Amino acid sequence: MIPTLFLATLCLGVVSAAPLHDSSLDAEWHEWKTRHGKTYMMNEEGQKRAVWENNRKMIELHNEDYAKGKHGFSLEMNAFGDLTNTEFKEVMTGFRGMSTTEMSLFQEPLLGDVPKSVDWRKHGYVTPVKHQGKCGACWAFSAVGSLVGQMFRKTGKLVPLSEQNLVDCSWSYGNKGCDGGWMDAAFQYVKDNGGLDTSESYPYEARNTTCRYNPKYSAANVTGFVRIPPSEHLLMKAVATVGPISVAIDSKHPSFQFYRGGMYYEANCSNDLIFLDHAVLLVGYGEESDGKKYWLVKNSWGENWGVNGYIKMARDQNNNCGIATYALYPTV
Ligand SMILES: *[C@@H]1O[C@H](CO)[C@@H](O)[C@H](O)[C@H]1NC(C)=O
Ligand SMILES: *[C@@H]1O[C@H](CO)[C@@H](O)[C@H](O)[C@H]1NC(C)=O
Ligand SMILES: *[C@@H]1O[C@H](CO)[C@@H](O)[C@H](O)[C@H]1NC(C)=O
Repeated sequence: MIPTLFLATLCLGVVSAAPLHDSSLDAEWHEWKTRHGKTYMMNEEGQKRAVWENNRKMIELHNEDYAKGKHGFSLEMNAFGDLTNTEFKEVMTGFRGMSTTEMSLFQEPLLGDVPKSVDWRKHGYVTPVKHQGKCGACWAFSAVGSLVGQMFRKTGKLVPLSEQNLVDCSWSYGNKGCDGGWMDAAFQYVKDNGGLDTSESYPYEARNTTCRYNPKYSAANVTGFVRIPPSEHLLMKAVATVGPISVAIDSKHPSFQFYRGGMYYEANCSNDLIFLDHAVLLVGYGEESDGKKYWLVKNSWGENWGVNGYIKMARDQNNNCGIATYALYPTV
């Protein structure tokens, strides 16, 4: 073990010590830095440029294959272009396995067929896409997304709720603010706390701050939460009959980091709970004209990522990326 680790570290050191740049990309590099407001210290620019060139090449190769029909989705350079996949995983995700709280299990509804496609955005259940920033609070965005949806279902009012309230105040439930957390622990916090503030009264800051919950500004209650057993069939029934559902996925692949559009399928994805690293919101599902089935997923990386902040993920392909592995919603 030790000699292998030593060798790996040594090799990395050699690579980053002498990054070589393709000078024909100078203008493109400057344009990219300007567009995304990037400024670097002199001693880090070389390494960032090398990472960017690497990503650029990987995207180009993928899109060449996409043009030949070898992939169902394309990639694009975006604001994550200067992050290695390892750095990306550290800052942009934030889902931590599963906590141990008790929850009820979703029962398949006894009604007959559900629609072939569902998109809760069209029915007022979904707020605009947000950006979690450099803070692993995806779990809070995912939890707020399904809670906002269930409150809308109950009251007919779409009131954005505070992710920051969850980031700051649910530590004793096992959540770790910007270092990650669980949606079930978030729901348990709201239930015990007797409310969750609106995001207008308690705005998102992308950092850990002290808890400032104020019952005066609460706009939601939680009575419990329901877990959907790991089955894409049951997940479809749940989305169709309940509304947007909080889910966790394996997102730690360059293909996800730079997704532009199309049907996302990643052969390297795991669907095992221990490999899931990111939480998102399932807002619907459907089927393309060629019969390919997808899940409609809202991410929290801003509107410039993917398709206006959304991604279509392969459905009924052996639970690709674990989308049905940890799925739940609150009862209100
Ligand atoms: C939030 O708190 C965690 C745990 O103490 C810490 O590791 C992390 O760096 C903090 N993140 C931010 C952005 O403040
Ligand atoms: C939440 O429950 C408390 C206690 O029953 C109640 O006073 C409050 O009005 C409820 N809030 C909402 C937004 O429904
Ligand atoms: C899967 O991962 C391996 C090792 O990291 C990599 O070589 C391969 O290209 C990946 N396959 C896909 C489809 O991304």
